[in-house]
Amino acid sequence: MLAAIMLLIISCSSPEDVDPDPIDNSNQPIPLKELFKDHFPIGAAVTPNHMDSRTPHGRALIQHFNSLVAENVMKPDALQRVKGTYTWANADRIIQFAKENNMLVRGHTLTWHSQTPDWFFYDENGELHTPEVAMKQLEEHITAVVSRYKGDVYAWDVVNEAMFDWDPNGQIIYREDSPWYKIMGPAYIDSAFVYAHRADPDAKLFYNDYNSIFSWKRNKIFDLVKRLKDNNIPIHGVGLQGHWNVGTSIQDLRTTLELFRGLGVEIQITELDLSVYLSPNEPGSTTYTEQFNMRQRIAYPEIFRVLLDYSDVITGVTFWGIGDDASWLDTPGRKHFPFLLDEQLQPKPAYLEVQRLIRR
Ligand code: GLA
Repeated sequence: MLAAIMLLIISCSSPEDVDPDPIDNSNQPIPLKELFKDHFPIGAAVTPNHMDSRTPHGRALIQHFNSLVAENVMKPDALQRVKGTYTWANADRIIQFAKENNMLVRGHTLTWHSQTPDWFFYDENGELHTPEVAMKQLEEHITAVVSRYKGDVYAWDVVNEAMFDWDPNGQIIYREDSPWYKIMGPAYIDSAFVYAHRADPDAKLFYNDYNSIFSWKRNKIFDLVKRLKDNNIPIHGVGLQGHWNVGTSIQDLRTTLELFRGLGVEIQITELDLSVYLSPNEPGSTTYTEQFNMRQRIAYPEIFRVLLDYSDVITGVTFWGIGDDASWLDTPGRKHFPFLLDEQLQPKPAYLEVQRLIRR
């Protein structure tokens, strides 16, 4: 009888029934950094008060992430609000926490039109500086910041958001209302990369922008990066910010990754958050509805499927936050729930879908 049962069991099982990795079938979340370890570092944007392993945020960071970026405290207005006076303490805390926990640090950002004190651009009469004065100040800033974190920050967003965002006629290439542009046209971009490279020749240098997967902008960014490369300006990659939503076109993402892969540069997804809303007109909610859940369970693995297809050129994926408790997108009455960790910093169903995608 026993022999007959055994025979039945053996004859009924095919090789596909044999589970190659028993962990895969469990619903136990595997830490994000483990999940992606063969593909790319996985990061989060942080504030200094997260840098404490006794807090829920500190613990979540240690558990899931192997890369950090400062949400604000490495921007020009945080590091040099007053000309010649640098304030390093907050940025130092992030570097220290990263070191203690074997994490990489991305630097964000050296050159931007926003969150940059007026003295970078204007003299005491409110007139724009000459190109010479503005460039000297930018060089000093970049040299001081990059030198301080040489060896600690492995990649810098050297220039942020220099391209014009929307241009139906395709005529306007650069963000012309940026004071940097007003002072000297696009040449500041080239110079910023040169200064950063001089200060740390080993750092990976990125151009970073939003809406960068969309047709109206990606070609401008492509042309910029190509021009810099052709002119031997030290640029290593492009940062696609990744402020997307559950309806963002996977085809646009793929087309963009293909385009930049062809250029031979690294690609990083630098500010990933996937809003649950399909459009700004959808009514806001402060609860995570079943509809939101379903949307993210579909959209998140779709996005990561594409990112995995390009993991030969994608050298980092960073979320613009940690969990749904806090996101820059949220406004009163309208939460965006954009992450894989929920408001308690626990994995969401969408997380497990991403896990299934990788471990299937
Ligand atoms: C842009 C910047 C980031 C941050 C976000 C909004 O994407 O690059 O530094 O300011 O906007 O939080």
